[in-house]
Amino acid sequence: MDSRPIGLFDSGVGGLSILSELRRLAPAERCIYFADTLWFPYGGRPAPEVRKRSFAIARRLLEADVKLIVVACNTASAAALDELRAAFPVPFVGVVPGLKPAVERSRTLNVAILATAGTLGGELYHRVAEEFGGRARVREIPAHGLAEFVERGELDSPALRERLHGWLAPAVADGVDTVVLGCTHYNFVVPVLQEMFPGVQLVDTSEAIARRVVHTLDEQGIAAPPDAAGGLSVIVSGSPEEFSRRAERLGFDCTAEVPA
Ligand code: DGL
Repeated sequence: MDSRPIGLFDSGVGGLSILSELRRLAPAERCIYFADTLWFPYGGRPAPEVRKRSFAIARRLLEADVKLIVVACNTASAAALDELRAAFPVPFVGVVPGLKPAVERSRTLNVAILATAGTLGGELYHRVAEEFGGRARVREIPAHGLAEFVERGELDSPALRERLHGWLAPAVADGVDTVVLGCTHYNFVVPVLQEMFPGVQLVDTSEAIARRVVHTLDEQGIAAPPDAAGGLSVIVSGSPEEFSRRAERLGFDCTAEVPA
């Protein structure tokens, strides 16, 4: 048993989609969520820059004595997951677009992936695409600007619908029946996507990632005592008040603290 906290990080609110699943599955765990809002968005930044931020955040979380780190961001996982694992002595759980479940579920074997340019250009995604994409036709759609809609809490608006329509309507008309949400921010637009494209299956891997965290804790014997109280603290590189407001719009109550 290990009552040290779990660290999670993302460029902003996106990773909250994983955090909420983790808190549901493992309520006894204490979590520290780092939102790198000063550097948001990661999506269009060069990989070395995102890697540098990921290392700085991992160090900050380790100072807070975390026992495991969730890279709750596809773009940061693409830029830094292998290097983080090699550099630090705690387990890391990263995220990669759910191409494998998408290909398994697609009846038309015609899938689309919405993700940032950083994720789609990264080696991590290419490894997954090579391993699991082979049987299917896979369209990679860099959804520039979509994380920004979510970050400002704009989860349904004519402007958002127009962008989603532009990215996905041609693909759906051409036989795509499964769409992968390849950025943790995009999980928050599931309701509007379901309404706009009712026949399309959406692949959101937040719950699967949270399960992987629980599995890793069990496997390594570092889960919190089952009767522990659990809890959440938040660290924000930008404005804590602004982050709290944004998180609240997504249904999270977190009183953000500033990095020490
Ligand atoms: N949430 C991040 C991801 O999963 C990226 C959003 C951004 O900062 O561009 O890729």
